[in-house]
Amino acid sequence: MDNTRLRIAIQKSGRLSKECQKLLKGCGVKLNIREQRLIAHAENMPIDLLLVRDDDIPGLVMDGVVDLGVVGENVLEETLMERKATSEPTDYTELKRLDFGGCRLSLAVADDFDYQGPKSLEGKRIATSYPWLLKRFMDQQGVKFKSVMLNGSVEVAPRAGVADAICDLVSTGATLEANGLVEADVIFRSKAVLIQSGAELSAGKQQIIDKLLPRIQGLQQARE
Ligand code: PRP
Ligand code: ZN
Ligand code: MG
Repeated sequence: MDNTRLRIAIQKSGRLSKECQKLLKGCGVKLNIREQRLIAHAENMPIDLLLVRDDDIPGLVMDGVVDLGVVGENVLEETLMERKATSEPTDYTELKRLDFGGCRLSLAVADDFDYQGPKSLEGKRIATSYPWLLKRFMDQQGVKFKSVMLNGSVEVAPRAGVADAICDLVSTGATLEANGLVEADVIFRSKAVLIQSGAELSAGKQQIIDKLLPRIQGLQQARE
C-alpha cells in the first residue's frame, strides 16, 4: 500500500457503512467500491479506503495502521478501556462528532423477566460484545454479574439458555422485538465520530484532511 495516500477505515457492512460512503461522496471523493474488496482507491484524490469490521477501527487508528477512521463512540470507548487495561497504545484525536450512527447500548431482558432495575441482574449471566462498558456500569450500580462474551448474535443468548439478559446496541429496537426481548436500561449513548491517529502526518496527508473537514462541516450544516 502507498503510504503517501491518506488511509481511512470505515465499516465494511453495517449501520455506519452506507452513511460513511455517502459522507465521502458528499465531500467529492470518487470511490469505486467493489464487493468483497478490503481496499478501495479514490479516483480523484490520494485517499485509500479500508473496509473493515467496525470493532477493528479504533485499534487500527490507535496503532497508526490507518490515518482516519469513522466509528461509533461505543466501540471507541470499549476499545479504550480494553487497551488501557492491557497497556496497548490508545493515542488518537477526535476530529468531528458526526450526525449519524445514533444508537444506545442497553440492557435487555426477556419480556417475561420481572425487571426492577439493575439489581434484578445480581448474579445473573449477561451476554454482550461490550464487556468493559457493561462492567463499568454494573460496578457503578454495585451489582455483581457474570459476563458472557459474544461477538455476534447476542440477542439469541437468552432463548438459547446461554444468558439471562443481554447488553447490546439498540437502534430501531427491531432486533430486540424480533427476539422477544425488551429494553431494560440504557447504559451508553453513542453517535459516529471521525477520529485521527496520534502519529504525525505528512504535509500532503494533512492537506487532504484540511480539505475534507470543512466539507464535512458544510454537509452537516446543510442537514440541520
Ligand atoms: C447492532 C446490534 C443489533 C442491531 C440493533 O449491531 O448488535 O444487531 O444493531 O439494531 P436495531 O435496534 O435497529 O434492530 P451492529 O450494527 O453494531 O452490527 P455488528 O453487531 O455486526 O457489529
Ligand atoms: Zn460491531
Ligand atoms: Mg449486531
